[in-house]
Amino acid sequence: MRLGALLLAICLASGGVSVAAPAPAQRLRGVVVSQERLASEAGAGVLREGGSAVDAAVATAFALAVVHPAAGNLGGGGFLLSRPTAGKASFIDFRETAPVAAHPRMWLKPDGTYDEARHHDSLASVGVPGTVAGLREAWKREGHLPWARLLKPAIQLAREGFVLTQNQAASLAEQLPAFARHAPTLAQFSRKGSPLRAGDRLVQRDLARTLTRLSKDWMDFYNGETARLMVRDMKANGGLIAAGDLRGYKPVMREPLRGAYHGFELLAAPPPSSGGQVLIEALNILEGYDFKGAGAGSPTAIHLASEALRRAFADRAQSLGDPGFNPDIPMARLLSKTYATELRATIRPDRASTSDPARFSWEADHPHTTHLSVLDREGNAVSLTYTLEESYGLKRIVPGAGFLLNNELGDFNAVPGLTDATGRIGTAPNLARPGQRPLSSMCPVILVKDGAVFMVSGSPGGRTIPATVLNTVLNAVDFGMDARAAVDAPRFHHQWLPNHIQVEASLPAVTQEALKALGHAIKEVPKQGCAQVILVHHGQAEGAADTKRWSDSGAAVE
Ligand code: DON
Repeated sequence: MRLGALLLAICLASGGVSVAAPAPAQRLRGVVVSQERLASEAGAGVLREGGSAVDAAVATAFALAVVHPAAGNLGGGGFLLSRPTAGKASFIDFRETAPVAAHPRMWLKPDGTYDEARHHDSLASVGVPGTVAGLREAWKREGHLPWARLLKPAIQLAREGFVLTQNQAASLAEQLPAFARHAPTLAQFSRKGSPLRAGDRLVQRDLARTLTRLSKDWMDFYNGETARLMVRDMKANGGLIAAGDLRGYKPVMREPLRGAYHGFELLAAPPPSSGGQVLIEALNILEGYDFKGAGAGSPTAIHLASEALRRAFADRAQSLGDPGFNPDIPMARLLSKTYATELRATIRPDRASTSDPARFSWEADHPHTTHLSVLDREGNAVSLTYTLEESYGLKRIVPGAGFLLNNELGDFNAVPGLTDATGRIGTAPNLARPGQRPLSSMCPVILVKDGAVFMVSGSPGGRTIPATVLNTVLNAVDFGMDARAAVDAPRFHHQWLPNHIQVEASLPAVTQEALKALGHAIKEVPKQGCAQVILVHHGQAEGAADTKRWSDSGAAVE
């Protein structure tokens, strides 16, 4: 069989990796890696009962909606890439949509000036949530266990509560001023207005009731009590989502983007994400170099990869948006090896090139989204990234329903026609229109070698996401690192504009100086992204959770 070469492997639940002695069984030990150990454990429990990778991903995603409210969600959207051992890879787009009342100029005040608060911090910025429908679609296609079983751990965690870690308590405390603007949200995430502390139990009764309704009838979210609660809140407070928007929401099945890199087959996110385009275009450029010879973390490797990213991001701004509204995205050309050769010819090995601010510019990134990776015993893989856009989304729950709303429509361009150096893009492909999905950077990816899954990876981090995923791919493929090392190595990012390489502070000063000598501006950040990686390395499955930025991240085994 296809997995004949693969042996039993074990991954630690602590975010670390250990590999057990090879067992004679020709099966993998299932692994779930996510940003919260409790959620990974919920997924691993499902694998233990014979659930598929999709079952485990669904259970983990519902559990994250409880234990990782910053980004785990019912009220947001995302992408699920599945690569079953038998059958075709699939991609479920459950990105939020703009409601019928949306229009391209909806972020302008009556006097025509840009209204940033409306764009990022109002009920008008909420997209029609896709998560519940997306997870249901995945289960319908590739789930084995009963639907209600998959929601059980989430319901229990919400109803009985869970003990807050230091990390979780600090994150909630940081948001207290924002929660305080909305009494029901403050009540859910504080102790009568005072911060919850590490060791306290967070009980979310309304959320437990919502999850219980969904476990009986998922449509309740779109056409039942949950929908009613959402629409009531929208109507009372100036939101745009109407009952018809919720009833009309549909996840979309799309063909995954495909690429090839040094003999590895890549499956990645298509539009409305730009994640796959940026990743594959950059890898195509890099394939023409002796990247391995340059050395991991070397100035040459970071220079070349940054130049590749610079070009891929410029193309992103030029062409990408929801394909339903942009039927002419030149994807075949963007992903062709010929085009990569043309772009490579514009890169000087000894000098940084420039970015033209008159052409494109960028908004700052917001700090939250979350990724989970699953590999089951039969080698079926799921790579799932979902988001509320900003940390805790709109920082406002639906009263009575207990889940946080997204502010995803902030990913639409702000002012049609206005692209300027302050960080705004006004190009046509990504404007708010009824039913349109805002352009994303989320980049769930699966790499396949000789017919079997080699790697599952993904990360949060807004526009840095494709670069973070690129870092993990280069580390694994070019530099032969194991999962732990591939996650831990210092990361870098370039996105055309602003014209600098963003590097993690752990990148040695001497390397940063060498990059400056090539003409690059360097911006140091403490950490970039939060990658959750599974690698089948030397015939064994290894899961490595990223604890650099979020210490609760963890792997769990079947
Ligand atoms: O879809 C997107 O690309 C953004 N809404 C993701 C936001 C994000 O990753 C923030 N996270 N760290």
